[in-house]
Amino acid sequence: MSTAESVKVVLLGDSGVGKSSLCLRFVTNQFRPYSEATIGASFMSKTVVVRGLSDDDDAVARGERHVGFKIWDTAGQEKYRSLAPMYYRGSQAAILVYDITKPGSFAALRDWADELRRNGPSDLVLAVCGNKSDLREDRLVDRRAGEEYASSLGALYVETSAKDGDDVERLFVDVARRVP
Ligand code: GTP
Ligand code: MG
Repeated sequence: MSTAESVKVVLLGDSGVGKSSLCLRFVTNQFRPYSEATIGASFMSKTVVVRGLSDDDDAVARGERHVGFKIWDTAGQEKYRSLAPMYYRGSQAAILVYDITKPGSFAALRDWADELRRNGPSDLVLAVCGNKSDLREDRLVDRRAGEEYASSLGALYVETSAKDGDDVERLFVDVARRVP
């Protein structure tokens, strides 16, 4: 028998960076080129077998844990910003998403990080995600800048492509591994 546990995750970041697309890729393994802006927020869940999450039961002797992800995909449009606390306050982890082709979306993460530091749960696990890694030729934010910023927050850093699926599962699973 392996144990089940849940991990509550919220995605934050500018409109259009690909938060909903990352959730859709992770949960259903699909991609929509013309996805619509999220209204308010949307909830998704998925259970995944994760190896080596912690070391305190028989399942781990066989190296597996069942993790139920409960994911709040927030809306990036400014008019919904005041709703965000409803979602991050109950979360164990936050994924701050930017678009590697949009420096403004990277700069916007500072406001989110400040807000989470002031108003978020004190033990919130943080990840910084540079999405749209498939758009190599349009890249305007260096990977190094993303990594350095994440490390300044004590956050995990992952570059993803919701379009190709690259590292999307790794993003969510590595976040879950960090949740105590
Ligand atoms: P809001 O809901 O308004 O906050 O936006 P969002 O962050 O949820 O963005 P969404 O997932 O709706 O994606 C916006 C656009 O970017 C859509 O046209 C997606 O198809 C596209 N997109 C998302 N992820 C990727 C990616 O990894 N690569 C490429 N090329 N396009 C992507
Ligand atoms: Mg969305």
